[in-house]
Amino acid sequence: MMDTGRHPLIELMAYSEVEDVSGYVGNFKVKVRKKARYVDEEVCNSCDECVKVCPVSVPDEYQMGFSSRKAIYLPFGQAVPSTHLIDMEACLGINPIACGKCAEVCEQNCIDFDMKDEFVDVEVGVIIVATGMDVYDPTEMDEYCYTEYDNVITSMEFERLICAGGPTEGHFIRPSDHKRPMRIGFIQCVGSRSHSAIGNPYCSNICCMNTVKDTLLLADHYPDVECKVFYIDIRAFGKGFEDLYIRSKEAGVKYIRGLPGEIREDAKTKNLVLTVENTTTSQVEEHELDLVVLSVGVIPRQDGDGIKELFTLSRTADGFYMESHPKLKPVDTPTAGVYLAGCAEGPKDIKDSVTQASAAAARSEILLNKGSIKAAAITSVVDDDLCTGCGVCGPVCPYGAIIVDPKTKAKAQVIEAACAGCGNCGAACRFGAITMRHFTDAQIFAQIDSILEEDNMEKVVVFACNWCSYAGGDFAGISRLQYPESPRLIRTMCSARVDEEFVKYAFRKGAAMVLVSGCHYTDCHYISANRQTVKRVQRLWDFLERNNIRPERLQLEWISAAEAQKFAKVMRSIEEMRKQVTEEEVEETMKTLTALEKKMRAKKEKKMEKVAT
Ligand code: FES
Repeated sequence: MMDTGRHPLIELMAYSEVEDVSGYVGNFKVKVRKKARYVDEEVCNSCDECVKVCPVSVPDEYQMGFSSRKAIYLPFGQAVPSTHLIDMEACLGINPIACGKCAEVCEQNCIDFDMKDEFVDVEVGVIIVATGMDVYDPTEMDEYCYTEYDNVITSMEFERLICAGGPTEGHFIRPSDHKRPMRIGFIQCVGSRSHSAIGNPYCSNICCMNTVKDTLLLADHYPDVECKVFYIDIRAFGKGFEDLYIRSKEAGVKYIRGLPGEIREDAKTKNLVLTVENTTTSQVEEHELDLVVLSVGVIPRQDGDGIKELFTLSRTADGFYMESHPKLKPVDTPTAGVYLAGCAEGPKDIKDSVTQASAAAARSEILLNKGSIKAAAITSVVDDDLCTGCGVCGPVCPYGAIIVDPKTKAKAQVIEAACAGCGNCGAACRFGAITMRHFTDAQIFAQIDSILEEDNMEKVVVFACNWCSYAGGDFAGISRLQYPESPRLIRTMCSARVDEEFVKYAFRKGAAMVLVSGCHYTDCHYISANRQTVKRVQRLWDFLERNNIRPERLQLEWISAAEAQKFAKVMRSIEEMRKQVTEEEVEETMKTLTALEKKMRAKKEKKMEKVAT
């Protein structure tokens, strides 16, 4: 942190927030709000005189509320810049100045009650999102009585209590009577690996080793303290971690497999009794302890939605930001030039965070040093002759890669450096003015034609997105899974490329069944593009129903690349549905849709003529 603050090429904007981001890779424009500290950071020498005279005391968030701070304060000991700031919510008031004692004693005259938030515009080529994480709040877990008993604390609170820079200067005490606890229990997986309505289903990755470290710290500082760890299983998978775990056991720490179902407190002594089923012996045990530490899990930043919108990121089902590809692009995001580091992407320890940050820095360097980028040749192209400037394509682009202005009706323009090639705009354009290189409308219509050219009743037209469903099909093939031969796959980069016209065309040409498939709803590789897929399929279902065509003949399925079994299962079930479709039904559909198409074409031509004049 100190090195970062001193580095001549790094401009550190602490106590600041990103307000707006525009532009694209190599050309981002970022608006930053530098919040008013009411203390001139250039002049303040952190003498602390202001803190001594401030009459207001509030709980210190950094010390987890175990001690207090003043309204004017240094956020924490190693803060960079090492400058105080005024917490305006706690201050007695500056308009008019109600106290002003801090300003009176400040020899440097660095207190400025008139200071205002400042907005700074910066231009950057790449962005690394390293927003960190929050920790799980165990108040909702009634069985551990965290809010009821003083001597039930979280692992974060433990950190402050054992830290030399903490409220007790490292003298470990329990909150109820400030005595040193002699029997300490750690409960693992609090808020993690839970499949009930409470907590999160994922493993928080760091809690096991954090507890192992804590037990070693205790054994080192207080060899007479008895430690017990209650766990589901200990995940000591990193380099050297197993050694630490063994050292902890050798130091006398008892590891008991089983999570306590209840904690009771002795009202007089404030000691705690844990009831747990020891799953290695199948016995219900009771353990008397002086202090219980809840090893709380990691959760995504609670204010992460704003950042997601600003940087056009997407989130996985667990709420962390999604990487471009879990194996091949683990630090890239779907937006070119935006990278991830640390717990923003998922729970990880310091070593993994540093590794990922180094990788993100290296990926950024590669881009910045090149000075130009090569875009994959699958971007969208606008046909100026057909574009009416209606502006429908702009808002559906998850990357903001299309410049439109419905007011001036200017032709849509694609920023190729920002376009990721999902094809969503092509599917949205009602005039056929946007298409996608290598996945043009003509190419897709030709594939439908060739599928249905012969034995149309025997075929199922399947639109499969490149990243998940198509890969799932590949995996099913590699795994030698048996599935019917009727599905014929048409690959699109994203399910959002599937134009409603493609589906109508397939039915018009005699398809018995059509399947649109893509990545799971929250896993689309183009941020949120597949939400448009859902809307389009919904519209198609309505359309089919209106025209007396059974909507079940169009199916929508989410199949991931790892779900070979699901792919085969879906194909089998769709084959069963295909068998229910009669020849007369298909012929009737073809007649209805052909007549409709003729009508629509005539209408469209008229409209185009009108637009042209
Ligand atoms: Fe698979 Fe969007 S990439 S649905």
